[in-house]
Amino acid sequence: MVSMDKLVSLCKRRGFIFPSSEIYGGLNGCWDYGPLGVELKRNVKAAWWDDMVGHHDRTTAPAGAPSAFDMVGLDCAILMNPEVWEASGHVGGFNDPMVDCRETNTRYRADQLLVFRMEPVDSTTATADQSLFASPGEAGVTPDDDLIAPHRKRIKAITKKGGDYRLTPIPDALQDDALRARIFAPGASEPGTLTAPRAFNLMFKTHVGALEDNSSVAYLRPETAQGIFVNFKNVCDTTRVKIPFGIGQLGKAFRNEINPRNFTFRSREFEQMEIEFFCRAADAEDWYRYWRDRRFQWYVDLGLSTEKLRLREHDENELAHYAASCADVEYEFPFGFSELEGIANRTDFDLRRHMDSSGKDLRYFDDQEPDPAKRRYLPYVIEPSAGSDRAVLAFLCDAYTEDEVAGELRTVLKLHPRLAPIKAAVFPLVKKDGMPERALTLYRQLRQQFSTFYDEKGAIGRRYRRQDEAGTPFCITVDGDTLTDDTVTLRERDSCEQIRLRAEEVGAYVRDRVGG
Ligand code: GAP
Repeated sequence: MVSMDKLVSLCKRRGFIFPSSEIYGGLNGCWDYGPLGVELKRNVKAAWWDDMVGHHDRTTAPAGAPSAFDMVGLDCAILMNPEVWEASGHVGGFNDPMVDCRETNTRYRADQLLVFRMEPVDSTTATADQSLFASPGEAGVTPDDDLIAPHRKRIKAITKKGGDYRLTPIPDALQDDALRARIFAPGASEPGTLTAPRAFNLMFKTHVGALEDNSSVAYLRPETAQGIFVNFKNVCDTTRVKIPFGIGQLGKAFRNEINPRNFTFRSREFEQMEIEFFCRAADAEDWYRYWRDRRFQWYVDLGLSTEKLRLREHDENELAHYAASCADVEYEFPFGFSELEGIANRTDFDLRRHMDSSGKDLRYFDDQEPDPAKRRYLPYVIEPSAGSDRAVLAFLCDAYTEDEVAGELRTVLKLHPRLAPIKAAVFPLVKKDGMPERALTLYRQLRQQFSTFYDEKGAIGRRYRRQDEAGTPFCITVDGDTLTDDTVTLRERDSCEQIRLRAEEVGAYVRDRVGG
């Protein structure tokens, strides 16, 4: 598996992802997509939009779906009336528990600070130590070595006394004053420097207009979903959608994460790809299973390795109070299995909250229902909620490969051709004998059809390697024979196999394989 260091380095070197405002030292939790990154991310978002919304066939039930259904899209403002966020529960409840270390002035998310102690495996040969240690880590995924790293010296001193020790987690230790007094925070020289956990609201606040007082407060949306709920009536009134139907939206979301981490995985500014699917309460669990399985399959179809993907159903005590069911699509990143997307049956919670708060009747009117008492109702909602930055990160991790070609090590991004930022690169074998001119003509024809790159600099092998690192599926070389029979060499990225075909056939050949 690729290490994060290698991936971050490739992303920087090849122009996929840069730290935001890097020349000023960056801004924690914010990232800029470079020339290759922006194409990759646009392709991920386009694949999502086309597959889920744009190319949806409303006349036929897709495989596994309980019936045919409608899909439409929305693009809502990032700034919304702040009452939206009161009603949705984000003003009162969108909090993470936070602790501060008074010695190192570092802030942590309490639920991501794992507290453990060194426990002797055999108390006759090793002595117990009362110290507790805290280390940051996504719960359940941090390897032991990472947990120990911030305390290596102190732990060495304990284990030096002899005997074997194991790490024993101490859950809820941060909430207990007495236990907290014994905890060494990461990098702290004495125990007891962590504050008690307190709630921290993740929404970014701003002010609308010239006055900066309570009356002008607005929030940068922390999710795109609420824009869909508050437009539910508008969509019903202006389109001819009938339940069941879904509304998709793609766009920026902002969260003042306490600890942005793991490259783009947890950012403060990111993009979401969300669907709110409206259906009858009685059918909600069937639709929940349909969307859960369809969304999982989407990642498989775009090339993520099935052995690194899993669907994790939430157990009852993990479910949000309004959710009837929820599952996460998880991917095994270099830092462990973590959430790519959540799919939830949110019942009628959101529409009911907005109906109560706004005083507007948001019930759906079913004019086909024979029983008048059942014609108006609040539908249930299935929500598949994905992040495009996390999807990009997973596709990059999965595609990163180091292999050997003709005795030479190469780094190659084996991205699905649909996602590849550049679909084809055109090279003249040498910079003379009319080859650049013929290659440029071909390049200009191809770039009308898909993203194409032209390169005439350096040895041909080096040009191949550059495109391998960019994930370009096809490289086309114009050589001496091209000038007589107008055939070119087409090299496939993953197998490095080369075929010969007529220059006029290249466009159709590549289009066929990049699909979408
Ligand atoms: N409307 C439901 C909702 O927003 P969520 O689990 O908080 O649910 C959905 O977010 C998805 O958005 C996540 O699965 C993840 O892909 C993405 N996401 C959430 N927070 C993120 C962050 N700080 N950085 C990058 N992506 C994030």
